Amino acid sequence: MNIALITGSGGLIGSESVSFLADKFDLILGIDNDMRSYFFGQEASTSWNVDSLSNKYDNYKHLNVDIRNYESLEVIFKKYGKDIKLLIHTAAQPSHDWAAKEPLVDFGVNATGTLNLLELSRLNCPEVVFVFTSTNKVYGDNPNKLPLIELEKRWEIDESHSYFKEGIDEQMSLDHTTHSVFGASKVAADVLVQEYGNYFGMKTGVFRGGCLTGPNHSGAKLHGFLSYLAKCNLTGDHYTIFGYKGKQVRDNIHSYDLVNMFWHFYQNPRKGEVYNAGGSRYSNCSMLEAIDIMEEISGKKMNYSYTNDNRIGDHIWYISDVDKFKSHYPKWEYKYDLKDIIGQIISSMSERV
Ligand SMILES: NC(=O)c1ccc[n+]([C@@H]2O[C@H](COP(=O)([O-])OP(=O)(O)OC[C@H]3O[C@@H](n4cnc5c(N)ncnc54)[C@H](O)[C@@H]3O)[C@@H](O)[C@H]2O)c1
Repeated sequence: MNIALITGSGGLIGSESVSFLADKFDLILGIDNDMRSYFFGQEASTSWNVDSLSNKYDNYKHLNVDIRNYESLEVIFKKYGKDIKLLIHTAAQPSHDWAAKEPLVDFGVNATGTLNLLELSRLNCPEVVFVFTSTNKVYGDNPNKLPLIELEKRWEIDESHSYFKEGIDEQMSLDHTTHSVFGASKVAADVLVQEYGNYFGMKTGVFRGGCLTGPNHSGAKLHGFLSYLAKCNLTGDHYTIFGYKGKQVRDNIHSYDLVNMFWHFYQNPRKGEVYNAGGSRYSNCSMLEAIDIMEEISGKKMNYSYTNDNRIGDHIWYISDVDKFKSHYPKWEYKYDLKDIIGQIISSMSERV
């Protein structure tokens, strides 16, 4: 029997992983305790998505377990471990702002939860391919030290800085930077996943995401930029832009394209590898550009205002360079560009608001 274990299976990337893999494995085990509703309130609950997966896929089995709880996880690994071939770990506390409110909980979920899964994999299924969704926030605010120029609607990297011109690659330093509490707990997990590859020889891959997005995001004020923007656009709720004149740039990758990266990695895995994973030059926008596209697609004006205070450590310009992944997996390619992504989010969100 072939089993794929997905943590955070109700979330954006977890649920996309379930859908992507359902016809490729005999059994998909999904772990999610809907902690997103604890982080961001009932409006961000992912239980609707778990219900939908359970209805759609006969081979999906949901386990309402907290990844901080080693003993509960151990029961699962003892029962299914020998058949688990792929583990995609997406469960997380994903917000900077929230992490500062409860650092112990943030670290427990992001760092200790990841260590629990790594150690139980080492003990019960050492041959598993272990995929971890890290974040570009592990680079802290180092990207903000790049020379930038101001254009009409966005910040752009100064052409004279030839090295990161096409985007930020894995050579960016993790040191001498403000990570935020969230960035620090993700660094801990990121490095642990690398060590279970480098030190213990397991097949582990770290994917440092830019903005991960798609129609299944349960967007909330503190997390899920395009999804929350779409929600405000459709409902007329007020949206606040924090700092950088609204010209801050993010690259956006559709959850399908990211999970397809995982799939390529699974078929030809490496040990302790790290990849930046985002929309790259192919799919990116500033806040102001995103609002323009959203208004054009939905036909509704955005109700927004601007405040000068940026979020601490927030990136001004972040575009991922995905060339390392492409060089290892040349057959992988993007399916969805920015307009596809925003169009899908608007249409899915209009059924939910
Ligand atoms: N969405 C982004 O823009 C983005 C960007 C970079 C990195 N990431 C990373 O990618 C991963 C997936 O992000 P996402 O957007 O799908 O997140 P998400 O919040 O949509 O999904 C995470 C899921 O994990 C569950 N969860 C949280 N704590 C748990 C716990 N203790 N036990 C069991 N389940 C728990 C939540 O209920 C939620 O359903 C995260 O690790 C995140 O840090 C996300």
